[in-house]
Order: sequence, then C-alpha cells, then structure tokens
Amino acid sequence: MAKFLVQKSEPLNGEVYISGAKNAVLPLMAAAILCDEKCVMMDVPDLRDVEVMKDILTALGAKIDAPQTGTLEIEFPNITTNEADYELVRKMRASILVMGPLLAKTGRARVHMPGGCTIGARPIDLHLKGFEALGAQVIQKDNYVEAIAPEGGLVGESVYLDFPSVGATENIMMAAALAQGTTYIENAAEEPEIVDLANFLNKMGARIKGAGTDTIKIEGVKYMRGCSHTVIPDRIETGTFMLAGAITRGEILIRNVVPDHVKPIAAKLRECGVIVEMGDEGMYVVADRKPLTSTDIKTLPYPGFPTDIQSPFMSFLTTVEGSSTVIETVFENRFMHVAELNRMGANIKTEGNKALIRGGRGLEGAQVIATDLRAGAALVLAGLVAKGTTEISEIYHIERGYEHFVKKFKNLGANILRIDD
Ligand code: EPZ
Repeated sequence: MAKFLVQKSEPLNGEVYISGAKNAVLPLMAAAILCDEKCVMMDVPDLRDVEVMKDILTALGAKIDAPQTGTLEIEFPNITTNEADYELVRKMRASILVMGPLLAKTGRARVHMPGGCTIGARPIDLHLKGFEALGAQVIQKDNYVEAIAPEGGLVGESVYLDFPSVGATENIMMAAALAQGTTYIENAAEEPEIVDLANFLNKMGARIKGAGTDTIKIEGVKYMRGCSHTVIPDRIETGTFMLAGAITRGEILIRNVVPDHVKPIAAKLRECGVIVEMGDEGMYVVADRKPLTSTDIKTLPYPGFPTDIQSPFMSFLTTVEGSSTVIETVFENRFMHVAELNRMGANIKTEGNKALIRGGRGLEGAQVIATDLRAGAALVLAGLVAKGTTEISEIYHIERGYEHFVKKFKNLGANILRIDD
C-alpha cells in the first residue's frame, strides 16, 4: 500500500491554486441524470471519487467525455438501468446521490445501502423521508434500498429535515426538481455546495429558490435543458492549506478562494494571531509575525465551523501554547486522528464529543494511519512540524479527495514523498 513520508519542513512559502470542490462536483454529476441534453462542467478536480461517480453514471447509461483537463461532458441518450450496484456503491458513500435524480427521471431507483465509515454510521433516513414525502414507496431489502414513484410521478410536498443533512438536502432537491407541484425543504442544509447545485439545476431549467437558507422552495418542471457550469472552489482544500501555512508558521498565498466560504476558519485562525487577508491575488495567510495562541472550536452545520476542518485544525492546536477545546457536533465518531496525534507526542484527551488539547510540546515523527480523508490531511500537517519522519499509511483516503496533493505541498516547500510499498 502506498504511504506518505513527511519530514520536518521549513515554514511553508509560496502560492497554491485551489481545485474545484469534491463535495460540489459529486452532486452536480448526479444531477446530470435529470438533464435531457448534454451538460458541461468545468474546473472538475482529478479525483478518485470523480472517477467512481463517472463509472456509476456510465453504468446507468451516461456518455461521458473529457475534452480537456478539468472539463466533463455528460449526456444520457437513455437511462439503461435504475440500479446502482454494490460494487460501485461500496467505493463511495456519495453514490447515494444518484437516488433522487434516478427516482425523479425514471420513477424508480434501487441503490445498495451505503456503508457507514470510520467517522460514523451515516444513515440515510432523512433522504428516504424526503422521497416518501414526495409520494414514493421506499423498500429496504437485502441491503438494497428501493424507491418507487407513484403512477403519475412524484408530487411536491413539504419536508422537514430533523438534521440539516447536506446529502439529504441535495437528494430531495434533485428529486423535487421534476415533481408535480411545489416542494419545500425545511431545516435544509445551507452549505455552498447546496447553492452550487441549485444554480446548476436552475441553469438546466429547474425553479429553485432559497438555496443557502434553511428553507428551499422547488417548483417542479417537466424538462431540463443542457447547460455549462463551473464547479465552485473547494473550501475544505482551502482550509487545509490555510492550516498548513499556520502550523508551519509560514507565509502563503492561496488563489481561487471564495472568502465567504471559509469565514469561520479565517475567524478562528485570526483569534490565534494568524494574519488572514484577502488581496487582489487571493488569500494571504501569514503566521510568522508573532507567537500564536490557543482557541476553542465547535463544529456546526454551515455557516458554522466545518466538521471537515476539525482534524486539521486540531493538528494546528497541538503546536500553540495553552489549552484548547474541540467539540464535534456533526459526526458521532470523528476523533480517530486523536490517537494518531498522541502517538506523535501530542497531549489530547477526549471525552465523548469533546477533546482537550494541551498544546506547545513539540511533536515527534511516528508511523500513523489515515482514518479518513481529513484526518489523513491533519496527520500530514502534523508531520510537517514533527521532528524526524512521519510515515502515513492508508493514504488512499487522502488521494480520493485532494487533487495533486503532494505536488501542491511540495510547491510550498513541504518535505513530503509518496512511496509505493
Ligand atoms: C457531506 O456528507 C460531505 N460529503 C461530508 O464531507 C461532510 O463532512 C458532511 O456533508 C457535513 O458537512 C459530501 O458532500 C460528499 P450529512 P453527508 O448528511 O451529506 C446525519 C469529506 O470529508 N444524517 O450532512 O453524508 C449523519 O449521520 C466528507 O469531504 C442522518 O442522521 O453529511 C451525520 O451525523 C466527510 N440521517 C450528520 O447528519 C441522514 O439521512 C451530517 O451528515 C443523513 C445524515
């Protein structure tokens, strides 16, 4: 299995360009199922998860071309099946996002239940609640979940999400786009990826209002025309590099940033004494002007502090003097990186969804394991400032979600090497 070898590095310096957002492009690709014509996406990141979604759509009958780097053309001459099988679904949880559009377009969708993962059980009950609200019959059998629309098709309805689930909001919005009548999603997720999806659907002819707020109104339409759309920059990759600059006490310029999307991360870094400023060229992160101090973070649905930046931020907090607390409220088991950071000499104690970090002691390189995409990135950040060498295994987690990860870090002066066993 491939590994990363990360050596203690100089403070990072230079500039990095942010790729299109993984968590935006995956629902956009699924939404192409609704389109009666060809749709074109630009700034599509070169990621394993994008390849898996391409395989899933191709298996459903899609014709996909990549005329140039970063551009995808997707067209469905016809949908050859309404099932997404285990082999493909097991590779990526986000494959569940084909369910809503398949149901809306063909009246039926059968998808293998996506498994949980290290960060939590990750049920899909809210997705299914939405489909049922639109009139679908939902059957769970033999580890598959099937949704069948009524004879005349889905019918618009109001649905309240007990938790502002990103995936459920996306799936229900796509299902409602072709329903008869109007749907309201209440307590909807407000993430930028939801807004990007709504913008894409509206370009195709959907009639969606309120994306980015807690109530989204979708008036069903009959036909979705082709369009082209540029994927928003990845706010989580942006946050990861903001923290790379902070943890190494460097000075970096991050290009292709939407400042609004990373407000909570910038705010918390400023509290620690990091300079974060938007200039004409992009976002400057300057962390070498004065000693940095600790802070407390609590993850929340957008616009709160993003759960995906919790572990990279914790790595940073192990390097500042003083005590910090981290409270994780979105996922029930997202502290798997704590044991790995403690193996590197960090002093972190957890109790339930709360972690107490006593920072300031130096870190030592060690052999550690990436337990999820963001925890893996957090361990790379820690390795940049740990004495000696940090060997990180299970790096496929990282490579599925960060485009040109090693190259971008090397360009900033990081000592990182990818080795194949
Ligand atoms: C999306 O996952 C992202 N993935 C995650 O990013 C991100 O961490 C998460 O949103 C929260 O922001 C993609 O967009 C592909 P949720 P999703 O549904 O949609 C519970 C990364 O590292 N829940 O908002 O699966 C669930 O258990 C990944 O890029 C239900 O209870 O997240 C969790 O505790 C990790 N029932 C909470 O809601 C449901 O039906 C948030 O889940 C659905 C969710």
